[in-house]
Amino acid sequence: MPSANSLKGMTNKFLFEISKRARSVQPSVTLAISAKAKEMQAKGLNVISLSAGEPDFDTPSYIKQAAIEALQKGLTKYTPVNGILELRKAICAKFKRDQGLDFTPEQIVVSTGAKHSIFNLLFALLNEGDEVAIPSPYWLSYPEMVTVLGGTNLLLKTDETTDFKLTPEILKRGLQEHTKILLLNSPSNPTGAVYSKEELLGLVKILKNFPRLIVISDEIYEKLIFDHQKHYSIAQLDPEIAARTLIVNGHSKAYAMTGWRLGYSACPTQELARAVSSIQSHSTSNPVSFAQAGGMTALEKGEEDARKMCEVFERRRQLLYEKIKAIPRLRPFMPGGAFYLFVNIAETGMDSVSFSEKLLEEAHVAVVPGKPFGSDRHVRLSFAASEANLEEASRRMADWLKKK
Ligand SMILES: Cc1ncc(COP(=O)(O)O)c(C=O)c1O
Repeated sequence: MPSANSLKGMTNKFLFEISKRARSVQPSVTLAISAKAKEMQAKGLNVISLSAGEPDFDTPSYIKQAAIEALQKGLTKYTPVNGILELRKAICAKFKRDQGLDFTPEQIVVSTGAKHSIFNLLFALLNEGDEVAIPSPYWLSYPEMVTVLGGTNLLLKTDETTDFKLTPEILKRGLQEHTKILLLNSPSNPTGAVYSKEELLGLVKILKNFPRLIVISDEIYEKLIFDHQKHYSIAQLDPEIAARTLIVNGHSKAYAMTGWRLGYSACPTQELARAVSSIQSHSTSNPVSFAQAGGMTALEKGEEDARKMCEVFERRRQLLYEKIKAIPRLRPFMPGGAFYLFVNIAETGMDSVSFSEKLLEEAHVAVVPGKPFGSDRHVRLSFAASEANLEEASRRMADWLKKK
């Protein structure tokens, strides 16, 4: 056993050598920009942030009340790792109501946010070198999770020409015999693209030629969908695909509950759900007990509020889209869901990081560069902000670009 003295000469670098796994994760450009925006705000500068990845509404009061009552009744202990049975039953009822899908509570694992659910699913399925197909642009955490878990990313590029969606051709060309998982996300972060039933059926046809491919369908923005469209899960369109689709959803975006950390996955087999639960049992255990009580109420009573919030987002989408479209050299993509406007900035001659940095420094508007989402030709503007702020931010962007 070395003495404390003999350790003195060691450098911290040696002691705390960061693992290969941790080093494989990219530092977040997004966090750097939001830290800078906060720093500027703290200095008293009037910075408008369009960088939020969460609804700007408060959680509806009856959902809070359910959690308060749960606390008062003593729901303060560990719960089953995969979530309280009543909550898992409520999740099954939600799948039946919204997607017509039948799950039993044993197929559901509730986790500490949908991000956690996705991580657990990938953890349960990926072996070293396994390939995961991810449509690009993508939610920035997907490829990072795959990398940290030893998998490899197969990016399937999309752009405005296909409305940022996979087409049967792109899928057919991109998928390999050995590809293990396809990650779908509709409505999408960062583009807001929404797959219609017909478009999903087009993908189903191709997926039938890859019978060993697993689909993970991230449906976290399900309730935020515009133009009277209906959300479809690929699992509800074909029983054979359903048998190999894992659905992820959660409370964060639909019911303005980001801080509650509640997400869930539905697995085609109980065996897989048990594996996911077992991984969770050795890391975080159950999601927070009283948050689960709130989550149950949200699923049972939250539809009306989810719809109202969606209406507000739809109005703001229209406003921001029109304002940004009117600015020369900016080409926004009309999102069908979620609360992001993905804007093509290629004609400005700037890459997404310098665009975002300069816009923040010079015009005091914070947006998110597209680079970590897989496109350096775009920036992401969130319309989880007041109409007044959306208007002012657009005005500042227009004035700023005139000088560029
Ligand atoms: C596409 C997508 N999936 C999953 C999540 C994770 O949500 P949470 O962990 O808050 O449930 C987010 C959050 O931004 C997201 O944008």
